[in-house]
Amino acid sequence: MTAYRSIEWRQGVLRLLDQRLLPQQTEYLDFIHYQEVAIAIQDMVIRGAPAIGAAAAYGLALAAIHSDAKDLSTLRGELETAAGILQAARPTAVNLVWAIKRVFDRLSDPKLVTIPMLQEATISEANKIAEEDIWVCKQIGLNALPFVPPVATVIHHCNTGSLATVDYGTALGIIRTAHEHGRKIEVLVDETRPRLQGARLTAWELSQLGIPHTVIVDGASGHFMRTRHIDFCVVGCDRVAANGDTANKIGTYNLAIVAHAHGVPFYVAAPTSTIDMTQENGDTIPIEERPSAEVEMIGDHQITPTGVRVANPAFDVTPAKFITAIITEKGVAFPPFSQSLAEIMKGSSPKNQSSHPG
Ligand code: MRU
Repeated sequence: MTAYRSIEWRQGVLRLLDQRLLPQQTEYLDFIHYQEVAIAIQDMVIRGAPAIGAAAAYGLALAAIHSDAKDLSTLRGELETAAGILQAARPTAVNLVWAIKRVFDRLSDPKLVTIPMLQEATISEANKIAEEDIWVCKQIGLNALPFVPPVATVIHHCNTGSLATVDYGTALGIIRTAHEHGRKIEVLVDETRPRLQGARLTAWELSQLGIPHTVIVDGASGHFMRTRHIDFCVVGCDRVAANGDTANKIGTYNLAIVAHAHGVPFYVAAPTSTIDMTQENGDTIPIEERPSAEVEMIGDHQITPTGVRVANPAFDVTPAKFITAIITEKGVAFPPFSQSLAEIMKGSSPKNQSSHPG
């Protein structure tokens, strides 16, 4: 377990570590209104696909327990409204939709016939989602171990650790598991413009874990792949389409192309909650456009000329052809992903699971 938790539920209060202030300040914010949870997700108090999924589920729990509804159908109606507001907070990570659907599936149980029963079921499903997330991350780490050589230098993009999940992390969980299993692993940490999740959050997590790391600017990965031996790149994801196209933090696509050009394996760590089989390919994944101020400003300093046009897509889509393997808690998918992901999502092990991509 990590010394800090991005998300905690304490007797009807949702507590979130304010990731906007890290690493300089470690401050928690308490929430009792789901509307404020939606704003916190939008403002990136909490971020990372699995973490915002769990936060949305707890947002529903807040909506349920702080409701004044006198009858079941009013409460169900209020939960539908809350779901719409929470789900709209950030469009790309499918975990929001996934977690909300899970809570509603649980609430469809005909045995839930009183308001306290509905409230209890909402809290217990949110707790289950949070607990499972930790197990999922650890399992992804174990499934990835065969791909990590005894001594490895890897490139990581964005933040995918404890902060981006309920605990442990996905891509950073792979690095952490490898370190815990005695691999000598060194991480080149992409700073991840514009919000610097790599420089601020990943570097903070890696130093607490005692894993050697060096922060690099996003544009430096090609240089390091050309001048040093890089064993692999590893990233998380916000939504994986049925064909393996993967939406993740802006800059992931560039990294994947550079890795491909240098023959460096490119791994995506993906909880199955982030795989969206309803999207045939990445073209239909909604890409969040964030405020221009994230690009114009560094801290309190404006760095661009006043009035300049800015584009700030928060995510990009890496085509499946640049991905070596997608590592889930249920197994490892190799190309062709349409087949291997379908098998994983059906619950059967993919036939090509044991073959290492080489
Ligand atoms: O905008 P963010 O910080 O929420 O983006 C996070 C990422 O892109 C992560 O790589 C992704 O959510 C996977 S986190 C395990």
